[in-house]
Amino acid sequence: MSVRPARSPRPPDLSPIAADVRRGLTATPKWLPARLFYDRRGSELFDAITELPEYYLTRVEYALLERHAADIVERAIAGAPRPVRVVELGAGSGVKTKLLLQAFVSRQGRTLYMPIDVSEGALRACALRLWRETPDVDVQPLAMRHEDALPAITSLGPRRLVLFIGSSIGNLSDAEAARLLGSVRRCLAPGGALLLGADRVKPLSVLLPAYDDAAGVTAAFNRNVLARINRELGGRFDVERFDHEARWNPDAAAVEMHLVSRGAQRVQIEALELTVDFADRESIHTESSAKYDDARIHALIRAAGFVPERDYQDDRGWFGLHFCRVE
Ligand code: TRP
Repeated sequence: MSVRPARSPRPPDLSPIAADVRRGLTATPKWLPARLFYDRRGSELFDAITELPEYYLTRVEYALLERHAADIVERAIAGAPRPVRVVELGAGSGVKTKLLLQAFVSRQGRTLYMPIDVSEGALRACALRLWRETPDVDVQPLAMRHEDALPAITSLGPRRLVLFIGSSIGNLSDAEAARLLGSVRRCLAPGGALLLGADRVKPLSVLLPAYDDAAGVTAAFNRNVLARINRELGGRFDVERFDHEARWNPDAAAVEMHLVSRGAQRVQIEALELTVDFADRESIHTESSAKYDDARIHALIRAAGFVPERDYQDDRGWFGLHFCRVE
């Protein structure tokens, strides 16, 4: 009988981010998944980004919600026998959603709201804000990945509006986005709806500064991924030896965020028993933020099995909100 030689065991990946970090930093080219941004510190930095003069996305989307909240709510509850329940993927701080929830409360009374986010810190802040400021909203926060939250969404009953705003969809490839929205679609019944926020193609003189601001907040947000690996996995990144870069990728119509190695360097990550070598100017691709035109966003909505029912856009055509229906 042959006995297989014992392989030297790899250390168990105990941290929830370990597998992601190992996969990304051993790949060519190197990359890290965007959800790693959103630990407590990252979520705070992202909130600061949304207030930057260069980061038009949040302001424009907020104004669209302000202007169209009543119409959105009317569509969502059209023909619904019972109160519509609201689910949000990637809820963040909840500032924008509060607007919409208030419109629901004034139209249908008590409203159930289930924010879903990978960041427990952001979720707690969001829930606390709403408990304090909108007592007629029943908040049921859920700290998990979107993919894992689908059964909980289904359990809310048939009439639901799912929010996926803030152009988080742009952080997925079109194939990933269609897959995620498709699984959202499958846990909705006919009449259910999705409100999708999507940033639009515009001049690079506007797009690039939104991802590379003068105060350096976005750079700190990007570098926080390395700091997080240091904190949670015993990484030895010298965070300042990576430059933040925002690049336009014309083929993908996306702004790409990179962390570019200043000089050749070797970095240990203790908990992974991993050594990562960087060549001078080698980059880690940390995020893409796709920018859409009508054709691209409608194709995505249809690929997921939704019907685009109504588009809302600001006067400059910078940002789009898309009300999508399950027929
Ligand atoms: N969903 C946001 C966006 O694509 C996320 C984001 C904003 C972001 N600024 C960033 C991600 C900078 C990485 C780096 O606009």
